[in-house]
Amino acid sequence: MHRVEPSAPLLDVAALRTEFPILHRTVHGGKPLVYLDNAATTQKPNVVIDTIADFYRNHNANAHRAGHVLGSEVTTMFESARRRVAESIGASAEEIVFTRGTTESLNLLAATMSGRFERGHRRNIVISEMEHHANIVPWQMVRDRTGAEIRVIPVDDHGLLDMQVAEQIIDDSTAIVSIVHVSNTLGTANDVHRLSAMAHGVGAEFIVDAAQSISGMNIDVNEIGCDALVFSAHKVYGPMGIGVAFIRGRLMESLPPYQGGGSMITSVTFDKTTYAEGPLRFEAGTPNIEGAIGLAAALSWRDSLDMSSVIAHKHALTLSLTSGLASREGIRLHGTHQGHSGIVSFSVDGVHSQDLGLMLDAHGVAVRTGHHCTMPLTARFSTSGSVRVSAAVYTSTDEVDFFFSALDRALTVLR
Ligand code: ALA
Repeated sequence: MHRVEPSAPLLDVAALRTEFPILHRTVHGGKPLVYLDNAATTQKPNVVIDTIADFYRNHNANAHRAGHVLGSEVTTMFESARRRVAESIGASAEEIVFTRGTTESLNLLAATMSGRFERGHRRNIVISEMEHHANIVPWQMVRDRTGAEIRVIPVDDHGLLDMQVAEQIIDDSTAIVSIVHVSNTLGTANDVHRLSAMAHGVGAEFIVDAAQSISGMNIDVNEIGCDALVFSAHKVYGPMGIGVAFIRGRLMESLPPYQGGGSMITSVTFDKTTYAEGPLRFEAGTPNIEGAIGLAAALSWRDSLDMSSVIAHKHALTLSLTSGLASREGIRLHGTHQGHSGIVSFSVDGVHSQDLGLMLDAHGVAVRTGHHCTMPLTARFSTSGSVRVSAAVYTSTDEVDFFFSALDRALTVLR
């Protein structure tokens, strides 16, 4: 995780909240919404909503196809969105592929990198026990097609990866190491620099799932040293249905196309098709143009915040959540290294996570319950899943206090 600067300027949370219209609505007959499900999706500031509305009100056309004025405006907007995304993570625009989200990005990488297991001596993919299903299932599909082996780095009781095992299982028969940056369930941030060095030390490629880190950390793909990095716009205050696969130029050049269709070609005859170079080769069909533009607006909004203040704010919220939960009887935190992720999962003795989630919702508090698309990890910590509270930059300390009063009221009924 990034260092928490004690001297970071305080974030003006009240001012930030005025930019998010949904935070002012009520639920269940007038109760203020306390939205603590930000790991599932973040809310959108006016600038993102307005950017998308402006696209449809004033520009809508297809990109890369028409010479008319709207077509060329939209092509410029779409490609400048690509540059904005690249700049935000220290990449170059030629390395940014737009996808539907983290899941599609990982499927794209798994499908196009699967050739590595059909030839040569590299036979395994290393993932971890804390992966989201999106970083498990696509590799299982590769395994089932090619006979590749999946190796798993275990998680200890503190919610940390066992790096000793990682050292042992990442070896010179490893082709790909694909690891989550910040766990969507435990909030743990993994040491991606060390994992990158381990992967590259044996000549393997290193992929980072940055779905949960993109909103609350500065991400620089060169500083991490990864070969690919994926995330979704909707987890960083942007729209749904658009995501990114950063793929380093050298790796991208070696990959075959993903889906076939318009835009990803340079010429088509019934005998032969030649493919476009660079990211377009992986973007068949009409892209999600308003999504790309909305994502660029969201990243610019994120980049306008002082990241050291964001980190300090989320660190303080995370500490309030973990200490408040730890001080209550019968509550077990899942993992103990939430850092400044704002993500805290817990279970309560004798109470089903879903029942507690419903009771919290009745008070206007939105959390996620269950397995969080990390079934192997969740099962390791509890049989009935967990309740996950996840804060964002606009989460206030009053909301955390309200969560605890709702929790206490709910537990009085449920226990
Ligand atoms: N990956 C999202 C979550 O953690 C949906 O809730």
